[in-house]
Amino acid sequence: MTSLDSSLESNLKDAEDQAISAIASAADLKALEALKPEILGKKSPIRSLMKRLGELTPEERPAAGQAINGAAIRVEQAYAARHEKLSGEAMAERIQKETIDVTLPGSSPLPRGSVHPLVRTLDEMVRVFVSMGYEVATGPEVESEYNNFDALNIAASHPARDMHDTFYLPGGLILRTHTSPVQVRHMLSHKPPVAIISPGRVYRVDDVDATHSPVFHQLEGLYVDREVSLAHLKGTLQEFLRTMFGAGLSTRFRPSYFPFTEPSAEVDVQCFVCRGTQKSCRVCKGTGWIEVGGAGMVHPKVLENVGYDSNEVSGFAFGLGVERFTMLKYGLSSMRPLYENDVRFLRQFA
Ligand code: PHE
Repeated sequence: MTSLDSSLESNLKDAEDQAISAIASAADLKALEALKPEILGKKSPIRSLMKRLGELTPEERPAAGQAINGAAIRVEQAYAARHEKLSGEAMAERIQKETIDVTLPGSSPLPRGSVHPLVRTLDEMVRVFVSMGYEVATGPEVESEYNNFDALNIAASHPARDMHDTFYLPGGLILRTHTSPVQVRHMLSHKPPVAIISPGRVYRVDDVDATHSPVFHQLEGLYVDREVSLAHLKGTLQEFLRTMFGAGLSTRFRPSYFPFTEPSAEVDVQCFVCRGTQKSCRVCKGTGWIEVGGAGMVHPKVLENVGYDSNEVSGFAFGLGVERFTMLKYGLSSMRPLYENDVRFLRQFA
């Protein structure tokens, strides 16, 4: 390039060197991109030198033009290389910063729920009977009138039907008024011996108050075998109540009436708070006894209705109120909070 005008040559070299060093010292992408018009634009020092080609002789022009182009290309390449490097670094930094460790615990852990006190009590009751060898059987809440009443020796004209204020559904169906229809279902599909418990929801037309609700829970029990006696029934319930409320409490059977048991009894447990020593006791109201359910020896007619031979087998049945047990266990004076689902109440059982 001997023929190139020497001032143009040195200007070109300076412009290239400056552009290259500016590129090299751009600290980040933003700074580099801000440089672009200044070093690569039409008015950049290198491009401006093109205008001076006119000052050269026609012989000198091609070489000078090539020299300027060569410088412009090298600057462009330096820019592109630096741009790629800085982009890569920026990306790596972002990936590093935005990495999420999915194994870290969340910043606000979800509050844990708890088992509802009714379900807790039911589970505990079920466990006691299962440990005695009972199996859990279930049945539908929408039941036939036959299973709920007729098969249990409660004829259509029977006054006991009025004792159960029934929710009637279309098509001869009802909401079961007790868990006893599960006895019928189970015996129809199993040969004796049978030993089942059946926990579940039952329905009766009732207004809500401290001790009533149109939906509540029972735990049914049924044991049918050869030579099952009232003594077996009493021993079984006594053992169950001792496990639930502690040893040393007496159990009392009061004569009662259910169409599907004979004899029938109302089952009381001795008040576990005062044992009958306090006339002002809130739990037993001073009577010394707490009623927990109904029981009796399965009526021969019920056994015959399900195809069992009442001369060969006998059995006992009981129905326990789960709300009652829950209230006793947790010292509740009303069962309403069991249905209101106020989390402040429920949290106490977490
Ligand atoms: N099914 C009866 C009721 O709901 C309770 C009961 C069950 C009584 C089994 C005796 C035997 O009132």
